[in-house]
Amino acid sequence: MSVFYVPAVNLIGKGVINEFGDHVKELGFKKALLVTDHFIASSDILPKVTAPLDTAGIGYVVFEDVDPNPSCKNVYDGLAVLKENDCDFILSVGGGSPQDAASCISIMATNGGTPQDYEGLHKSKEKGLPVVAINTTAGTSAEITINYVITDEERKVKMVMVDKNSLAIMSVNDPELMLSKPADLTAATGMDALTHAIEALVTPGAYGVTKKLSIGAIELIKEFLPRAVKDGQDIEAREAMVNAIFLGGMAFNNAGLGYVHSMAHQLGAVYHLPHGVCCAMLLPIIERENAKRVPAAFRDVAKALGLVTDGKTDEECADYAIAEIENLSATVGIPKKLTELDIKEEEFDFEYLSKNALIDACAPGNPFMPTLEETIAFYKELF
Ligand SMILES: [Fe+2]
Repeated sequence: MSVFYVPAVNLIGKGVINEFGDHVKELGFKKALLVTDHFIASSDILPKVTAPLDTAGIGYVVFEDVDPNPSCKNVYDGLAVLKENDCDFILSVGGGSPQDAASCISIMATNGGTPQDYEGLHKSKEKGLPVVAINTTAGTSAEITINYVITDEERKVKMVMVDKNSLAIMSVNDPELMLSKPADLTAATGMDALTHAIEALVTPGAYGVTKKLSIGAIELIKEFLPRAVKDGQDIEAREAMVNAIFLGGMAFNNAGLGYVHSMAHQLGAVYHLPHGVCCAMLLPIIERENAKRVPAAFRDVAKALGLVTDGKTDEECADYAIAEIENLSATVGIPKKLTELDIKEEEFDFEYLSKNALIDACAPGNPFMPTLEETIAFYKELF
């Protein structure tokens, strides 16, 4: 038996941002804690979100202090603003960071406790305070998933929470909100989306519905991510990427992820690197290993990436898929080595990061469980 989670209401397409206020009004909410980051708060995105709220007569207070790789402090600060202002719902506006911070604030608003209490699988008892999630990048898909990630600053680990009580009640994906995103961010978030779709396709947790969703996402990303990176104003490419992240988000939300994410989380926690860049660098390394264990799973990956698979062996399909992943990464300008990001091998704590990768919540979704020594060797490939 498989359970399929997705928000009850999802607005997708050009211009849907102009309609979301009416949908929120229908739900009867009065005042939002608008959770976002400084970049969005000072951009032209914020007025595009607040204008429909004003028209619908819905109040809001802006909390804009969410950091990239959001911390426990961000969550406590946001929760304090929520309580001071008697907000009855949360409106998250941003990419993965504001969405993840909003999920944790939502759970703590109704369940109390600390962020650490919710690390792992379905740890909360009560549904979170309702979240309306407006996405501005393509994408983490955090606006439609039951997962969120919060950095524990003291332990320098990213805590992964998988919690059905954190699912947003409404998501909004309008490509017009993504037009101003710079090329490097578009590339990184797009490669994160590719990682979601591929990990969700080769995991043993994949099943009929999620496989088709993953394949659709991979096809769209292969065709449209280079276009969105090359010309951010290409609305057709931006809209295709919105469709891709919605498909891929539904896939991994219900099939799970794998060891690329387990290892990427540790790089983000210790070095504060962009999540999508970490995923993109690790993706060929881990999939090359996965292909040795489950080569048949790579037929669909190769096909979605453009290979005519008839007459090809599983191994040929896997080789093609991994080469295409590397090509796409290079085309959109992702670095190959950590040294390009000013990280020195002699200062890299291989053992610490590898031990934390092994206990990351995404690890059990991988087709095989690496050892500590293997994980260290995978990190070494990044130098
Ligand atoms: Fe991700």
